[in-house]
Amino acid sequence: MKRLTIAIDGYSSSGKSTMARELAKRIGYVYIDSGAMYRAVTLYALEHGMVGENQEIDSERLSASLPEIRIGFEPAGPDGIQHTLLNGRDVEKEIRTMEVSSSVSPVAAIPEVRNHLVKLQQALGEEGGIVMDGRDIGTTVFPEAEMKVFVDASAEERARRRVLELQEKGTPAAYDKVLENIKERDRIDSTRAVSPLRKAKDAVTLNNDRMSREEQMEWLIELYNSIVSHAENN
Ligand code: CDP
Repeated sequence: MKRLTIAIDGYSSSGKSTMARELAKRIGYVYIDSGAMYRAVTLYALEHGMVGENQEIDSERLSASLPEIRIGFEPAGPDGIQHTLLNGRDVEKEIRTMEVSSSVSPVAAIPEVRNHLVKLQQALGEEGGIVMDGRDIGTTVFPEAEMKVFVDASAEERARRRVLELQEKGTPAAYDKVLENIKERDRIDSTRAVSPLRKAKDAVTLNNDRMSREEQMEWLIELYNSIVSHAENN
């Protein structure tokens, strides 16, 4: 069976990662969380004093450090979640904190950072059979992807879900702070000069405000099956 490249883009906390991970598992594909890579670079910048009080980034120093930042993924363990490695260290928990969330969008707006990570992402997807989620996967990383989904939900619903997620992970945060962070990241991600968050022309929109996880997965599998059968008949 033809192995596709699947791009899932959308707004922050829209449930992309959960849905991309589940889809990959169901169809036996590799899943890559591109946001985790931006988060790992942000953690590195924070740990090396490259982030100022108002989230201004020392982009020159960070760009010069990129060759020293090795990002990897450890296959899913008993928790079912792939862990992100920064220079060999498991940073899965640290990269999800509000501190990292507050600085990640300015870091992701730096053209050198994007260039570097996009190349790594393209190399990871060379062979197909991959589900990658992010902001620019269908537009910049894999413009030729056979299946593209753009996920959207209201900012309030997304904040509600993120608060629950942070609670479950043992790093609780206030709803207002989370909502503010989501809106600010949406703004920076959509207005940056390089690869802003945009729906690719050939992406299918999924608004999951009122959808359960199961309904969402059914919708995705149906779309996947129709694309596979179309690809095999042509
Ligand atoms: O988990 P959440 O949806 O909130 O965000 P994420 O996927 O972990 O991505 C964190 C941040 O990385 C985003 O807000 C973007 O600023 C940036 N990002 C990006 O610019 N391009 C990507 N392909 C993925 C993430």
